[in-house]
Amino acid sequence: MAPTTLTSVLVVGATGNVGYAVCLELLKLTHRFTRLAAFNNIARPSAEKDAIISALSASGMEIVTSDTYENPNLYKDFDAVIMALGNFGNYQQPLIIDAAIEGGVRHFYPSEFGADITVGENATQRYYRDKVLARNHLEKRAKDTEGLGWSYVTIGRFTEWGIRPYFGVNNKERTADIYGNEDGRQSLISVEDASALTARSLLMPFDAADPENRHRTFRFRGESPSWKEIFAILKRVTGYEYKVTYHDVSEAWALQKEAKEKNDEKLEMNSSHRIVQGTEGTLLPEPYDNDKFSDVNVKGVEEVLRATFADEKQKAFLGL
Ligand SMILES: NC(=O)c1ccc[n+]([C@@H]2O[C@H](COP(=O)([O-])OP(=O)(O)OC[C@H]3O[C@@H](n4cnc5c(N)ncnc54)[C@H](OP(=O)(O)O)[C@@H]3O)[C@@H](O)[C@H]2O)c1
Repeated sequence: MAPTTLTSVLVVGATGNVGYAVCLELLKLTHRFTRLAAFNNIARPSAEKDAIISALSASGMEIVTSDTYENPNLYKDFDAVIMALGNFGNYQQPLIIDAAIEGGVRHFYPSEFGADITVGENATQRYYRDKVLARNHLEKRAKDTEGLGWSYVTIGRFTEWGIRPYFGVNNKERTADIYGNEDGRQSLISVEDASALTARSLLMPFDAADPENRHRTFRFRGESPSWKEIFAILKRVTGYEYKVTYHDVSEAWALQKEAKEKNDEKLEMNSSHRIVQGTEGTLLPEPYDNDKFSDVNVKGVEEVLRATFADEKQKAFLGL
C-alpha cells in the first residue's frame, strides 16, 4: 500500500495556547496541505477567541463553526484531527473521537504536548488523567475501527511554562518553591519549535495498513537542564539570583491529599504536577524524533527564555 500522509487537518482547540501555535506552523506549510481548518466552538464564546478565529481565517484557514463537538458531519473529509484542548477540556476527547470516527476520520493527535505518560508513575497522576482517558479510548476504538491511527506528541515541558508562577517560580520576587532537588531535570522545548515539529509530523509518510506504523509516538526534545542549570540561566537572563527553596516530594503528596479532601480540582492538578516534577516525570526518554525534521532548528532554553522575558505579552504569564 502507498504510504499515507495527513494532508487534510482539523485543529480542535485552535484558539488555545498550543492549538493556535500549531495552526500558525501549519499555515507556514499551507502549500503542502490540501485542507487546513480550525474548529470554532461557539458554545464557549469570548472576544479573545473571536479575534484568534478572525486572524486564522484571514490567514487562509478554513473555520468549522459549531456549538457542539458531537456532530459527525463537522469532521467529514478530514484525514486527521488535532485535539489541542486545555487540561480542563481534555475530558471531552472521547466524544470528539467518537464523532470524528463516525464522520470518517482515521487519525488523531490527542491533547498530549507534555510528558511521556508511560514514564514512571505519570499514568496514575491526576494531572494526566484525561490524557490517559484519551489514549485508552483510542485503543478501545481501534478494536472496532478499521485503520484507526494516532500520533502522541510528547515533549516534556514547554520552556515558557517551566518558569511560570503556577509551577512555583515567582519572577517578581525572584524566589521559587521547587519540588525535588537542584539536580532534578526536565525536558524543555519552546511552543514554537514543538508546534513546527508537530506540523511536519503530519506530512511524514507512514503505512496506514500497519498498526505498528499508524500508532505513532513522537518525542520532540529541546534541552534537559537541571533546576540548578535553569536558575543559572535565569540569572544570566534577568540579572538576578533567585532564592530557591527545595521541598521534599512528600509535601506535594500531602497537598494533593488535602486538595482531594477539599474537592479542590485546581489544587489537585497543581500538587499532582509537583509530584511529577519532583520525580523527573517530565524528563523525556530516548529515542528522540527531532532528526526526522531536520529543517527545524530547536532553540536552546536560554534563547527561549531571553525572548520570553523580552515579550510584553509573555510577561503577564511570567507574573511580571
Ligand atoms: N508541557 C507543558 O509545559 C504544557 C504547557 C501548556 C499546555 N500543555 C498541554 O497542551 C494541551 C493544550 O493546552 P493549552 O494550554 O493550549 O490549552 P488552553 O489554551 O487552556 O485551551 C485550549 C482550548 O481548549 C478548549 N476547551 C474546551 N473545553 C474547555 C474547558 N472546559 N476549559 C478550557 N478550555 C476548553 C478551548 O477551545 P474551545 O473553546 O474552542 O473549545 C481552548 O481554546 C494540554 O493538553 C496541555 O496539558 C502542556
